[in-house]
Amino acid sequence: MDKGYTASITGVGSFLPEKVLTNDDFTRMLDTSDEWITKRTGIKERRVVENGATASDLAIEASLRALDDANILPSEIDLIVAATITPDCLVPSTACFVQEKIGAKNAGAFDLLAACSGFVYALSIARSFIASGAMKTVLIVGTECLSKITDYTDRSTCILFGDGAGAVVVQRGNGKKEIVTTYLGSDGSQADLLKLPAGGSKLPASQATIESRSHYIQLKGKELFKTAINNMVDMITKAATDNNMQVEDFDMIIPHQSNIRIIEAAMERLKQPKKKAYINIDRYGNTSAASIPIAIDEIDKGELLNPGDSVLLVAFGGGLTWGTSLIKW
Ligand code: ACO
Repeated sequence: MDKGYTASITGVGSFLPEKVLTNDDFTRMLDTSDEWITKRTGIKERRVVENGATASDLAIEASLRALDDANILPSEIDLIVAATITPDCLVPSTACFVQEKIGAKNAGAFDLLAACSGFVYALSIARSFIASGAMKTVLIVGTECLSKITDYTDRSTCILFGDGAGAVVVQRGNGKKEIVTTYLGSDGSQADLLKLPAGGSKLPASQATIESRSHYIQLKGKELFKTAINNMVDMITKAATDNNMQVEDFDMIIPHQSNIRIIEAAMERLKQPKKKAYINIDRYGNTSAASIPIAIDEIDKGELLNPGDSVLLVAFGGGLTWGTSLIKW
């Protein structure tokens, strides 16, 4: 990509709903066990919204925290991108609800659908607008209420997902948390591996779609699992090559939190220590587009990195979609 201005993450925030759904809670609903879920996924608990809360409610809280962290006013935002597969509704966009609630009166706003890769896609868009000089301040938020599209009678799927939101402010480079490169990929021929069949123009909501439970997320876990490991290994290797680095040179890898076995298997194949990959899946499960920005916020607030560290974001999700971003902390 042509380089104009550099782009930096200047503010970070996240928000998790209070209600905790533990593995033990599932044992009261389904034929499962804490041992199976922990061993097969690394997940111990996840958060879920209550009282009708929506993706925009979570996004607003995370966004306000990110704005506060960046020390900017809502009126300074040029664009809001909400990455989500659980928008409040299809029209208007969740980004527009965020725009109104935070008072971003000078911002454009739209939603981006790239499943678990949504945040990395949005970061690439933000960087491009900043680099071209077209915009000075972009707010991106990954926000998901996956509990609303989860089939709690499907034990192999429902144990994976949780709700949450993470937001970042992207502005012209200030020498910190610079978005050095981004890379995006997709393969629509594997669309069948993860889908929510009903509710769109192909299969509008009807009594039949409700009866067939087609308005819930469906995944082919085994196939996705293998593809996810291969993809993660390939993407990390490619990111190193594209940036004239060795995989060893990444000080930290922030992967989408899909399954601890996927992440650990990829680290093993790359001959990297497991602890190089940041993990919080034990506490939040898979929060799709929210998982990477929630992790960034924890790492930032916990001061787990040093200025100048090389950090690789790596995401993979439904579509299929995937992407990486190298951040110079
Ligand atoms: N409790 C107990 N047993 C279970 C459960 C459960 N919750 N779920 C499934 N099982 C059983 C199955 O019925 C099966 O039993 P059987 O052998 O008698 O048939 C056995 O456990 C093994 O099932 P598998 O599906 O083979 O289990 P696997 O080890 O593959 O784990 C899982 C399933 C966790 C879904 C895994 O495949 C996975 O994580 N897949 C990848 C998910 C992913 O890539 N996500 C990223 C994209 S997500 C996004 O974009 C939103």
